[in-house]
Amino acid sequence: MKISRIEHLGIAVQSIDAVRPYFEDVLGLKIYKEEVVEDQKVKTAFMKVGEVKLELLEPTSPDSTVQKYLDNGGRGIHHVAFKIEDGVADSLAYCDSKGIRLIDKAPRGGADGLHIAFLHPKSTCGILTELCEE
Ligand code: CO
Repeated sequence: MKISRIEHLGIAVQSIDAVRPYFEDVLGLKIYKEEVVEDQKVKTAFMKVGEVKLELLEPTSPDSTVQKYLDNGGRGIHHVAFKIEDGVADSLAYCDSKGIRLIDKAPRGGADGLHIAFLHPKSTCGILTELCEE
């Protein structure tokens, strides 16, 4: 598994519109894309900080995993996404062989045109970990 860099940090928020003034007016970042990801029951908003992106995640349904995260007191950084250079599918197989618990058995479509898969935080020091490739 070859990780080249952090692709993005996922940040859970109850409302993208409510935090927009902080990110845009205070930090001076620009939301360049907003996209609903139906199968994850989230609306996303992306900003670039150099090569790394911030991905705001707003739940679109009470049974969204992001809503559950917020309801359980989770705030701020929700997941770390690594950019994989040699294939997410192969990396999943590799992690599986190392005994890492997988949330996704195969890559699926994510926001911003990425192929993604998640590793379970129980196997990753408590950090929900996303593997992604373009
Ligand atoms: Co993500």
